[in-house]
Order: sequence, then structure tokens, then C-alpha cells
Amino acid sequence: AGEASESVAKHRVIIVANRLPVSGGRDEKTGEWDFRMSSGGLVTALKGSREELNAVWIGWLGQEIPEEDREQVREKLLREYNAVPVFLSDELVNKYYNGFSNDVLWPLFHYMPLPIYQSEAGSDKRFDTVLWDAYREANVLFADAVAAIWVESDYIWVHDYHLMWLPLELRQRFKHANIGWFLHTPFPSSEIYRILPVRKPLLEALLASDLLGFHTYDYARHFLSACARVLEVDTTPRGLEYASHFMSLGVFPIGIDPEHIAHILQRPAVHARIAELTETFAGRKVLLGVDRLDYIKGMPHKLLALELFLTRHPEWRGKVTLIQVGVPSRTEVPEYQRLSERVNELVGRINGTFGNLEYAPVHYINQSITQEELVAIYNMADVCLVTSLRDGMNLVSYEFVAAQRDMPGVHQKDGPGVLVLSEFAGSAQSLSGAIRINPWNTEEVCHAIQQALTLSRAEREIRQHKLSRYVSVNTASSWAKSFVAELRTVCANKPNLSKL
Ligand code: G6P
Repeated sequence: AGEASESVAKHRVIIVANRLPVSGGRDEKTGEWDFRMSSGGLVTALKGSREELNAVWIGWLGQEIPEEDREQVREKLLREYNAVPVFLSDELVNKYYNGFSNDVLWPLFHYMPLPIYQSEAGSDKRFDTVLWDAYREANVLFADAVAAIWVESDYIWVHDYHLMWLPLELRQRFKHANIGWFLHTPFPSSEIYRILPVRKPLLEALLASDLLGFHTYDYARHFLSACARVLEVDTTPRGLEYASHFMSLGVFPIGIDPEHIAHILQRPAVHARIAELTETFAGRKVLLGVDRLDYIKGMPHKLLALELFLTRHPEWRGKVTLIQVGVPSRTEVPEYQRLSERVNELVGRINGTFGNLEYAPVHYINQSITQEELVAIYNMADVCLVTSLRDGMNLVSYEFVAAQRDMPGVHQKDGPGVLVLSEFAGSAQSLSGAIRINPWNTEEVCHAIQQALTLSRAEREIRQHKLSRYVSVNTASSWAKSFVAELRTVCANKPNLSKL
């Protein structure tokens, strides 16, 4: 492993993802732009390995930057963050990001193709080729940004469903480029994938890569059978040949940075917050949910199970509270707006039915919270409920495990908490210490809540031991390093056409 990481460091890795790991704003008085590192899945995952990988980032800033500010923004990001912005107009973002990426690919990859075909009040929704054109147009702009800095020794690592067209764009420009692509979501069964009207060109574009990576064997297998059916090619578990180019395939389960969480747990401000929260919830058990407000996370399913639990177990009323963080996400996509309304409705109903002046069964926090606050809540919670209907991996389940530490002198934690985890999250394949549930089965989730609340300390310790062993070894940085090492290997072994 030592050798692999040394050799990885020799060449630059260009990380191309829809979102840059920084966000910022313009000071209205001075006209200066100011940026800060943001947190979030991929960002956190790659932060730990940035330097070792000699990485430069390419991506969108999450907002439209006025023409006259672009030079300043470009220069500042490169100097301070080694990042290159891709400027997208709001109009293009609406079609490429809200439309094709998040209203076509995202639901489809999570086994929910309905939103785009459902007939809605007043409008029949259908597959719209305008969105597909915009998707490719945006991917071309990402390719332009890569082209502006690319040198032949670079490794280009493309991320996620927003940029499936990019490998082909890059290959057409640079025959010898080293190109890897990693999918952070599930890849669905070919029975679902082949619904997509543009299923063929999208697969062909990906096959221009040298290496494709997935979180689990199932996702990789689904991808191969989609290729076999849609493109009528022969596949092997290691990859396939298409248009005289061999493309390798691998499984690389992502992880988190457990040391980062351990460090946050040492901060005095976090100790104070844990003590405060423990006091607030004294005499009660705390269930915790932390999700982006996304329909794939199954928040209504979780709330319905809690409602059933409080109905069935009156002895627990007043004695258990769900803290549910719902971080607003993709708020311009109608399906997300509908979800938000539904969650508000359910929270109101449960609190109205089982709450009183002193007690709210659900504390719903519909905003993003600081890392310190998050780690404090993770630490003091008794049970973490992950009820995703589909989820590429689900890093919340790992973060909860990493934060379950004894805090001597801060509070008397009665042993580790319990993870209740949907079997439809990628992480369920590795976290055998969790109580695994089918979120569609409300009775089963209700029962799991009861079981989690009443497990003996010895049983919880055995489970936590298994969980934390996995989470502390399979980290974000080992994930990133192993992907890049594999990319390097497959590229070293490909025929060097330039010399033919
Ligand atoms: C998922 C995707 C990421 C994305 C994240 C947040 O984890 O796989 O690519 O960045 O959600 O979503 P957003 O649309 O805000 O970038």
C-alpha cells in the first residue's frame, strides 16, 4: 500500500465533479469574492487525500457568476483552493442540473422513474430531449475546463451522474488521456436502466473511460448487464471491450474520515454542547435522523414508523424523541417541494397527536447545521435511524458509528448507541453490526425501534465493535487512493497508441 500511495503522488489528478468543494459570496461594498471550503459527501471524502493525490478540482460553484467577476473568481479559486470553476448560466443549470441530472437520472437510478412520466395536474410530463441537449452542453463546458489545464501525464477522475457524457468528450479531444469515472449513486438493475430513452449514448459515453468505479458489486453487475443488453456486447467482471477500447471496472466502497470526527469530539465547544443536550433530553431516549431532504431517504417512511411505535407503545410516550435534521436540497425540483410539504404534515400530525406543552415527539430541524452541532448530536443520540429507499452508500450511517465514543467527564453515556439501517443503502452491505430493516415495512421498522431502544449494553457493545472496526479501516482516503492506484495500473497497461 505504501508503494501504491507513493506512486500515486507522482502525477496530478484532475478531479471533475458537478460541485466544487468551495462556496462563496460577493461582498457588496468592496466587490470582492470570498470563498470557504464546504462540507458534504464527496468534499469530505476527498479532503483527507487532497495533498497526497496532488489534486486540482474542476466544478460548478452552485451559483451564476456575473461575467465581469469571472476573472477575479477564477484567479482566486486557483490560488487559494487549487480549483477551477466552470461557469454555467442559470438557464443551463435549470435544464442540466435540476432537469436532466436531478429529475431524470437521479430518480431513475434510485428506482423511481415515475416523477418524469407521471401525469400531473394540468401537464403531462414526458421525456424532454431539450434536457438531454442541455446535459451534453453542460458536459462540454466541463470538458473545455479540463482541456484548458490538461497535460498528458494527468489522471482525470470524473464523478457522478451529472457527468456521464464527459468521458466521451474528453476521449474525442485527447485520445491518450487517462480517464476514470466513479458513480456515487446506485446503478439500477438493467430492467430499470433501459427505461431511459437515451440509454445507449449514455453508456457509450461512459465506455470511453479507462476505469469505471462503483460502491458495491451489485451496482457493477447491474452496469455490466445494462451494457450486455443495450449494447449487445460481451462483458467480464473485470470490464469490457467496446469500439476497440478496453474499459476496466472495479468496486470501491467509499468511507469517511473518522479521525476528523474524533478531533471535533475533542473540542471544548462540542463538550459543552453535548452536556447541554444531555441535560435537555434527560430521562428520554433520543432517536436521530440526519438526511438531505430527498425522497430517496424515506423520511415519511421513518415518520410513519415512529407514529406506529407511539400508537402501539403508549409507555414510550414522553420518553422518546426523534431529532430529525432535514437539510434542504434541490429545492427548485417540484418533487422535492412535494416531499417537504409531506414531511411538514407528518411532523405536525405526530406532534399534535402525541405531544403536549412539555414534550414534542419530533424535533424537526429543516436547515443545515454546523459540523460541531452534528457531531454533538451524533454522540448523544441513542439510536440512529437510516430509512433510505435507495442510497448509493449513506455516509450518515458511518458518521454516527464514528461519533459513538465514551466522553468521560462530559456525560455518562450508557454504552454505545444503535444503528438501524435500511437494507437498500449501499452501506448495509458492510455494516453487519446494524439492525437492518426494509423501510417499506412499517411494522418491521416499528419493531426495530423498540428493539434498538431496549438492547442490552453488552449487545450494543458487540454491535458497535463490529461497526467501528469497518468504519475505521475503510476510510475516504483509502477509497480515493485505491481508485487512483487502480486507474494508474489500468492506464499503464493499455496499449500506447501514440507510439504505434
Ligand atoms: C449526492 C450526489 C452528489 C451530490 C450530493 C448533494 O450525494 O451523489 O454528487 O453532490 O448528493 O447534492 P447536490 O445536488 O446539492 O450537489
